Amino acid sequence: MPSTVVLGAQWGDEGKGRVTDYFAQSADYVVRYQGGNNAGHTIIIGDEKFALSLTPSGVMYPHAVPVIASGTVIDPKVLLDEMDMLESRGVDTSRLRISSNAHLIMPYHKRLDAVMERFLGRNQIGTTKKGIGPAYTDKYQRRGIRVQDLFDPKIFRDKVDVALGDTNKLLTRVYNQLPMDGSTIADEYLEYAKRLLPYVDDTSLLLWNALKDGKHVLFEGAQGTLLDIDHGTYPFVTSSNPTAGGAVVGSGIGPKMIDEIVGVAKGYISRVGTGPFPTELNDEIGETMVELGGEYGVVTGRRRRCGWLDLLALRYAVRVNSLTQLFLTKIDILSAFDTIKVATGYTSLGEQYDEFPRQQRVLYNCAPIYEELAGWNVDITGCREFGDLPTEAQDYIRFIEQAIGIPVGWVSVGPERQQLISRQ
Ligand code: GDP
Ligand code: IMO
Ligand code: MG
Repeated sequence: MPSTVVLGAQWGDEGKGRVTDYFAQSADYVVRYQGGNNAGHTIIIGDEKFALSLTPSGVMYPHAVPVIASGTVIDPKVLLDEMDMLESRGVDTSRLRISSNAHLIMPYHKRLDAVMERFLGRNQIGTTKKGIGPAYTDKYQRRGIRVQDLFDPKIFRDKVDVALGDTNKLLTRVYNQLPMDGSTIADEYLEYAKRLLPYVDDTSLLLWNALKDGKHVLFEGAQGTLLDIDHGTYPFVTSSNPTAGGAVVGSGIGPKMIDEIVGVAKGYISRVGTGPFPTELNDEIGETMVELGGEYGVVTGRRRRCGWLDLLALRYAVRVNSLTQLFLTKIDILSAFDTIKVATGYTSLGEQYDEFPRQQRVLYNCAPIYEELAGWNVDITGCREFGDLPTEAQDYIRFIEQAIGIPVGWVSVGPERQQLISRQ
């Protein structure tokens, strides 16, 4: 697998961190291509738990070069704090490469994110309030500030002033906030620049050379397919493209460079934030998923909404990403249930659907049609081969494969590194 994309096939938090950590054993480069510190990727190594928001999960291995590519948005303080945290725990971050074209999350982006959500009231998206949406808005508005701007203080100060010209009007006149001071912001960011400079690079060229040399490059998606700005459950989405196309655009390589696209999905499904969720369970079963699955946000601590696996959504993820294989996580949590349901269709507004609906109104009114499968009710966290799994668990996995048309190449049965089954 010379170049592989690992991405979320659901609404995020599928276990991408642990999956990336697994594949990174044999990777030369591990690349974050979109999103920012709205992500929270967990890696568990023995007694140690690492929660990474910006640093690619490959940082754990001394042989892998972690790359933060141009499609990301970077809060420099968060990144430096994360690097300090890793260093203090014995993880070497000196190999990190940061794209000079990545955009910066500025203090006014965070202020705007918080205040815009507050003004939306009942209609709020439930963002992580890390400034993601406003930073990408400025990027597309063409007044964003990029990492490279940090290294020319005059240009940097000018750009902050230009951006604040409009933003302060928005903050004061629309959102009743105090204006923000450009020179205070510039002073703070120019300090970060001194520390970041040694890590900044042309990461598109770096990856091009690596791929030409036959190196193994792993692309680590953040968020998930259903949170994609173009293909997710808009407007309840994030502001970037977690889908496979985002990996090439956000890294500055061409689509022909990608060999494998691995979707990560839980054996059930979760969502944090607002928006439609057809298989959501507001009952004891949902509660059990939250508690046994530890379904609380890594970034915000928010309780995640949980429900049965949605095969329409998963088939949709196979389609929009051209997934080649699925990595199924957390099926150990399903051991708690006597029977397991999976959504194989929806009814909405008097019609039946067997493909993920394109219209928000249809999705909002969906009632899932479930198929019920036998549970296994035994502890599977010690299984290491497919054949070790109870037949009911094997049947569950085969049922998913049939429905989505691609192989389930790996199954994880616990959060730790070795708690997985490879079927390669
Ligand atoms: P990510 O954002 O996709 O990287 O996922 P998160 O780290 O936000 O959430 C996944 C959570 O599930 C983390 O706490 C992981 O340690 C945990 N996890 C991952 N795989 C498994 C698994 O197979 N079983 C169990 N029980 N937990 C898992
Ligand atoms: P990882 O990479 C789950 C959700 C937020 C909100 C919406 C928009 O850990 O899977 P944003 O702050 O991005 O503008 O919020 O997207 N969201 C996530 N949900 N996992 C994530 O990341 C998420 N990143 C953003 O909850 O609904
Ligand atoms: Mg997460």
